[in-house]
Amino acid sequence: MKFSMFILLLGTLAVSCQFNETGEKKADDKIVNNDTVTVDLNLKVGEELFKENCTSCHSIHEKIIGPPLYYIDTLSRQWVYAWLKNSQQLIKSNDKEANKIFNDFNKIIHPAFNFSESQIDNIVNYISNKRKMDDHSPPWIRNNSH
Ligand code: HEC
Repeated sequence: MKFSMFILLLGTLAVSCQFNETGEKKADDKIVNNDTVTVDLNLKVGEELFKENCTSCHSIHEKIIGPPLYYIDTLSRQWVYAWLKNSQQLIKSNDKEANKIFNDFNKIIHPAFNFSESQIDNIVNYISNKRKMDDHSPPWIRNNSH
């Protein structure tokens, strides 16, 4: 009698473990395969990185210490990677754009960031998405100064 109760208990445990496993797997799959969720998560990551690392000097539409960044998705992505990784190296390599923006902003030395390319992609996508949303806001709340 005792023994069969034990077997029953083991069986129940095995069954509930299995359920847990499939449950978790399904939740993961949903995040990975659902484009909307993935895009939203990446934009959220981009927003956080931007707010933590860039907004002390940059806004999307206004010039602060650095230029506004609404046009960041029109710059070559390879250039943006190189700029954020080590702008001084880019300037010293005689890159025309890097020297121009450096001189235009009184040779303020840009901070160097140890970001992965996908983190930078997230920041760029967040900014360009935000700019598009702002531009698509109804005319009565749209700021027409840009
Ligand atoms: C300490 C202030 C400061 C911080 C922080 C900062 N920037 Fe800048 N950024 C500048 C300045 C100033 C310039 C103009 C060039 C120069 O003088 O270095 C610039 C230039 C740029 C440019 C080049 C724009 C162009 O038209 O070529 C990009 C892109 C850029 N920043 C992106 C970023 C991003 C993304 C972050 C956050 C990860 C960031 N910056 C953080 C001050 C800053």
